[in-house]
Amino acid sequence: MARTIITGGTVVTAADQMSADVLIEDEKIVALAAPGSHEWSADQTIDATGKYVIPGGIDVHTHMELPFGGTFASDTFETGTRAAAWGGTTTIVDFAVQTKGQGLMEGFEAWQEKASGQCAIDYGFHLIVGDVNEQTLKEMETAFAEGVTSFKMFMAYPGVFYSDDGQIFRAMQKAAENGSTIMMHAENGIAIDVLVEQALQRGETDPIHHGIVRKSILEGEATHRAIKLAELAESPLYIVHLSALEALEEVTIARDQGLNVFAETCPQYLLLGLDDLGNQFEGAKYVCSPPLRDWDAGHQEELWRGLRGNDLQVISTDHCPFCMDEFDGLIAQKRLGEGDFSKIPNGMPGVEPRMELIHQAGVVEGKISLSRWVELCSTAPAKMFGLYPDKGTIAVGSDADVVIFDPNASKVISVDNQHMRVDYSAYEDWEVTGIVDTVLSRGRVVVDGDEYRGEAGHGRYLKRGLNQYVM
Ligand code: URP
Ligand code: ZN
Ligand code: ZN
Repeated sequence: MARTIITGGTVVTAADQMSADVLIEDEKIVALAAPGSHEWSADQTIDATGKYVIPGGIDVHTHMELPFGGTFASDTFETGTRAAAWGGTTTIVDFAVQTKGQGLMEGFEAWQEKASGQCAIDYGFHLIVGDVNEQTLKEMETAFAEGVTSFKMFMAYPGVFYSDDGQIFRAMQKAAENGSTIMMHAENGIAIDVLVEQALQRGETDPIHHGIVRKSILEGEATHRAIKLAELAESPLYIVHLSALEALEEVTIARDQGLNVFAETCPQYLLLGLDDLGNQFEGAKYVCSPPLRDWDAGHQEELWRGLRGNDLQVISTDHCPFCMDEFDGLIAQKRLGEGDFSKIPNGMPGVEPRMELIHQAGVVEGKISLSRWVELCSTAPAKMFGLYPDKGTIAVGSDADVVIFDPNASKVISVDNQHMRVDYSAYEDWEVTGIVDTVLSRGRVVVDGDEYRGEAGHGRYLKRGLNQYVM
């Protein structure tokens, strides 16, 4: 049996902050004790004096190797989970995809194949439901038995992942039977496509027009519709990558009514804005859907309010990187949309800097508390997607997924020091105070300062349970 002690740190959970030593045996946390109050022996002792000891980050929205926009998201499960580990994330929940004409479980198996033996950290899957029919609805039960308890649907992207209201409602009725969560990409894609066509006809082809045509009111409208359909079907609903104050308003009303409606936002919607899209074709780096929002309209401020007041429960990344130029054997993926913004692959890199960015912008800059940071980035995602208490906390019996975080060290984020397989950082030259120091995944040190000690294949598939917030 391998024993590790983490000494001298401040253990920070969603509930508490305390001076405590942590004893790990093999893959589990087996004891916490006041420093000096025990006589533990161990094979390895990690000194966390002056540092936080937090549960590993959980990113419940990633797209490794996603086929999208005529290409593939540039991170593989190997490179993407390694980058996640570098950034203090020890679990991802990625999206397996059912494409049109394919069985739901075929999608699940294809993603198992991609991830198996490749991951540095533990991983689970949601399923993107791309073709609602009788067989798909039956297979939602099979997927559930395999630990897939959440299904993503799209009101956006007609002709790709889009489902109409009838298809969505049927899937929600099915989800209601066993309490699975429907995750919704809530943008009115049909109306957006009209605006896209009209913009292109006017010769408005630059990336900024991606942000202009995808109106925030259309995110609000779709969010409202999704909530009403879920209310009728009695299924839990989780709005993904919420970016607009109109959408947040709808979620807030639903939650005030006591509905099982939940939502996440992502660092890019809190920290970046429409103006980032405005720098000629460079703006393609910031093309994602929903788009980055106008600072003047107050979206970002409202999102922080929502995070503080628990109208938003989770911060994930929607990590979906595409390279701007040729890089590491990849084509210039974003340039597929030169001359037509609608052809720019949608998505941004983000799995690596999430924990540090939110610590800086949230905790250091006084928008959320230290415990709320842990809750939003680890504990709540674990509870929302049926992983708690194995994941998402520092407690006896939990997996030893632990990050030692140095709140006093700082760094400058750059493409030159990141590990994601992509040729830019959306946060180039941003300085953060508070950085990831050491990362353990199920008791194994995978990041030790500047050294990577992880291994592809260490990460295990996680069968997940139900959403633990559902009443
Ligand atoms: O732009 C985005 N969000 N790309 C990834 C696919 C999605 O809609 O989540
Ligand atoms: Zn989406
Ligand atoms: Zn996504």
